[in-house]
Amino acid sequence: MAALILFGATGDLARRMLLPSLYGLHADGLLAAGFRIVGTARSALDAAGFRALAAEAVATHAPGLDRAGLPAFLDRLAYVRLDARDAAGFARLAEAAGETVAIFLSTAPDLFAPTIAGLAAAGLAGDGVRLALEKPLGSDLSSSKAINDAVGALFPEERIFRIDHYLGKEAVQNLLALRFANSLFEPLWRADSIAHVQLTVAETVGLEGRGATYDGVGALRDMVQNHMLQLLALTAMEPPARLSAGAVRAEKVKVLDALRPIAAAEVERLTVRGQYVAGAVNGAPVPGYAEELGHPSATESFVALKLHIDNWRWRGVPFYLRTGKRLARRTSEIVIAMNPVPHSIFGEAGLRANRLVIGLQPEESIRLVLMAKVPGLDRDGMRLKPVALDLVDRAALAESRRRIAYERLLLDLVEGRSTLFVGRAEVEAQWAFIDQVRAGWATTGMAPSPYVAGSWGPPEAFALVGRDGVDWNG
Ligand code: BG6
Repeated sequence: MAALILFGATGDLARRMLLPSLYGLHADGLLAAGFRIVGTARSALDAAGFRALAAEAVATHAPGLDRAGLPAFLDRLAYVRLDARDAAGFARLAEAAGETVAIFLSTAPDLFAPTIAGLAAAGLAGDGVRLALEKPLGSDLSSSKAINDAVGALFPEERIFRIDHYLGKEAVQNLLALRFANSLFEPLWRADSIAHVQLTVAETVGLEGRGATYDGVGALRDMVQNHMLQLLALTAMEPPARLSAGAVRAEKVKVLDALRPIAAAEVERLTVRGQYVAGAVNGAPVPGYAEELGHPSATESFVALKLHIDNWRWRGVPFYLRTGKRLARRTSEIVIAMNPVPHSIFGEAGLRANRLVIGLQPEESIRLVLMAKVPGLDRDGMRLKPVALDLVDRAALAESRRRIAYERLLLDLVEGRSTLFVGRAEVEAQWAFIDQVRAGWATTGMAPSPYVAGSWGPPEAFALVGRDGVDWNG
């Protein structure tokens, strides 16, 4: 019987996302009869303990799912206690798992190498076994290369599934449909028509008890290095010839390689770092970053950047990125801001350039903001207002269950589809870009500026776009 092995099975990601997602797939009949999930971690648990943990995870993190299928789901679960540095444990794991189709590593990066070696020694890296790797894949280019080398020595690239959970989000799929299933936008999707692009990933949460792993990492490496650069690559890439992993990755990596490096002399002009101080989010008071952490820190919980992609399509088009914790509202969106009309016959009043706003969360949406006439006789001249055309089929959306991004990714992993996973060249291009921004921060001693929790980040983030005559959307 086929099995999925889950490393880090008692950890935060497994509880919040992986086990609820696997249950979602089970509940929809998408896991084959007899398919088994073998959890492994250092915790001293037995199978019954792991099942109790999984039941609790489903109840807490997927409360909307019908619980009727839970007993049969729990029957699929097994648990093997394992210390990644103990070779003997891997033999027990191999025996418990039997025919393994996929292995998911959600462990600390320093355990990657010993884990892979243990898997190989126990015969678990054999033909057909796919290996999924969860971030962080290193902390800079050289540590990322070391992980990729260690993994690549035992698994061929086509069987390595690097996770970026943003690629599993419904709205990200929709971005591909919008761009490549319509001919309307493609002629406009370039510097001739587009004034600038904005990417925002705003969170209201703070450290969520993850201070020990987040501090010292910060928003640039936690969010921009992966999720935001992937969103940027999908937004900016050339049309791939097909939807295969190879074709899509090849196009994304060209964009990432074309990112204009930000030199130390420019970091203060092109980047913003922030850290929240006490404030209120959604009306509730919240402590500052340092208070949550328990000590002062120079880690940024907010970052904004102005980027350029040096290629024909995007010549001169700024890409503004911002992400942060404890911001005013949870929202993620991509804004394509079109050029203004070349000449206005309506005067200046009320005329705004068109925008295409692709909302990722909390709701998926695609809105095309156009100018329209306000009804009336217009004795004092025609009045205009922006109206939003909603391109998402709300009725269809209401009928389908809102899925966790990991459901799609886990199903693709088990069934062997790798288009929504990240290739080695992409991860390394992402790190190369991030490393030089960090080097610039270190050279100039650029420290995070304070922002009040519940705001939209430090004033410098407004100045970053304001200098170009741009406002953040929203
Ligand atoms: C993770 C980051 O990758 O993404 C977290 O490590 C962040 O810090 C999370 O909160 C955001 O994911 P989502 O799906 O809630 O936008």
